[in-house]
This record gives sequence, C-alpha cells and structure tokens, in this order.
Amino acid sequence: MILFKTAEQLKIHLNSIKKSTTKIGFVPTMGALHEGHLSLLAMSKEECDITICSIFVNPTQFNETKDFELYPVTMEHDILLLEKIKCDLLFLPSVTEIYPEGKPLLTQYPIGPIETLLEGSFRPGHFQGVCNVVHRLLKIVQPQVLFMGQKDYQQCMVIQKLLEITHLNTTIKLNIGATLRAASGLALSSRNLRLSEADKQKALAIAQSLAFIKQNINSSPIAALEEKVRFQLATLGFDPIDYVCVANAHTLEPITEWDHETPIIALIAAFLNGIRLIDNISLN
Ligand code: PAJ
Repeated sequence: MILFKTAEQLKIHLNSIKKSTTKIGFVPTMGALHEGHLSLLAMSKEECDITICSIFVNPTQFNETKDFELYPVTMEHDILLLEKIKCDLLFLPSVTEIYPEGKPLLTQYPIGPIETLLEGSFRPGHFQGVCNVVHRLLKIVQPQVLFMGQKDYQQCMVIQKLLEITHLNTTIKLNIGATLRAASGLALSSRNLRLSEADKQKALAIAQSLAFIKQNINSSPIAALEEKVRFQLATLGFDPIDYVCVANAHTLEPITEWDHETPIIALIAAFLNGIRLIDNISLN
C-alpha cells in the first residue's frame, strides 16, 4: 500500500498509473477502522481496479468540540489492517490540505429537507461539514465508485443528493454496503471503542429495539411502538434519546400510518454515558 499525505502527490501518482478504463473505488473514513470499514474496502476491491481509502477526522462535521477531541485515533492499527487487506492507496491529508482557505469558508450545499431531519435536527451543520469534506475528497480522488455504509443511512442519502447537485452522479456511482454487526447484533462503530464492556452489553438494546419495531410494525400503531422503545431505552439509562423514528425510506419524513407499500425504515440515535450511538433497520 502506498500512503499519500498531499493531494498533489496522490494526483501525480494516479495520473501516472491510470488508464482510461481504470476503475477507481474510494472508501472515505475517519479512521479507527473496524470490520464495517473493511467490508466496504472488500466491496471496492471486488469491483474496482484500484482501491483508495482516506482517513481524515473531519473537524467541520463535529458540532461538539469535545466529540471531535475524543474521536478515537488508532492510526498504526489502521495502517496494519489496510496493509493486511491489500488496500492499494491510503490518503492521509492534514486539515490545511482539505481546508486551505480555513474552516469558516465552508461551501453551503442546497441539499434540501434531508439536512434538517433526524440527524440534521440534532447535529446542526453536521451534513454541510460532511458534504464539504466528501466533495473535496472526491475532487482529489476522482473515483468511479464511492462506497459508503447503510449504518449511516441519512449520510448516504445526503451524499447521493450531493452527487446530484454537483453533477458528479454522471461519473460517480454510490454503492451502499450493509451494516456490519458484532455477533451480539451491536452495529460496529468507531465510537464503540469508547464504550466500557458493560455499556457494550447495554448498547445492544438499540439493535434489539429496531428488531422489536420490525417484528411489530404490522400489528401495533407506530407511535405506540416508538414510545415503548423510548421508554425501554430510557429505563436502561440511555440519555438523551435523540430519536426513535419510523420514517419514509426515500424522504426520511417521519410516518405515523403505513400503507404497507411505501418503503420505510426505523432509526434510533441515543447517548449512553456521553457516547452517541446510531443504528437503523429497513422495515420492508
Ligand atoms: P466513518 O464513521 O469512519 O465511516 C466511514 C464509512 O464506513 C461510512 O460510509 C460509514 O457508513 C461506514 N460504516 C461505519 N460503520 C459501519 C458498519 N458497521 N458497517 C458498514 N459500514 C460502516 O462516515 C464517516 O466516517 C464520515 O462521515 C465520512 C463519510 C468519512 C466523512 O468525513
């Protein structure tokens, strides 16, 4: 694997090896890599000629400084994992490499209502930060296929929208990988590194709650299901619970009545001892 710290060096290298038919797959990450990230890299290796991973803890998408400062960094371990799975190139930019003009000069992308729903309403500015970094990375890497995880369902929708409004959708395809889970059912996440063993057990309640909603969606009113799950999570000590929501899978508008045809999804975001966990499950 070759490691690049500057966009300039990466571009020169890519231009020297790329032919017109070379298919480049790109997996952007914030590091603290786990099997979920590796599954996206495996998809890329399967489909593409060259697989590029980036590790960049993007300051502009954190709406709380403390969350940014505490974000796990396991660089040596990440590099070993990437070597092991034979990732071709690793891009490790600095903050000034991505934001040479400084943080306040963020582009505002017109991504529509998706920006303020669910994650957007609890993390103001988060998706503009994600759009800024992903757009900047895409302009540097110029992949044909971008791989992202269903674990961050709303992020995938935001990036699909970003590709459309920047017209990059004519050259870049977004491929979404399934959520990888521990044997217990807990969705893998870099933030799990900050959970104690006892809290990892408690955190299972999120995946179990989603499964409960899926089992009962045909027999119970949606509001009652959401309320019951909120109550159970609160009893276990999740605090605050940002949302427990059944939503239209295409728009993410919350729904209260289901016509049994529209694709729907259940999503949860809740804190356990200061660590924010999110997960989702498709309901049909
Ligand atoms: P990060 O949280 O590091 O995730 C990188 C990619 O891995 C995302 O597409 C995410 O959805 C995917 N992923 C995370 N957990 C997963 C799991 N359990 N199974 C499958 N895929 C999983 O998401 C980000 O970084 C950032 O917002 C980023 C897109 C890199 C922009 O900064």
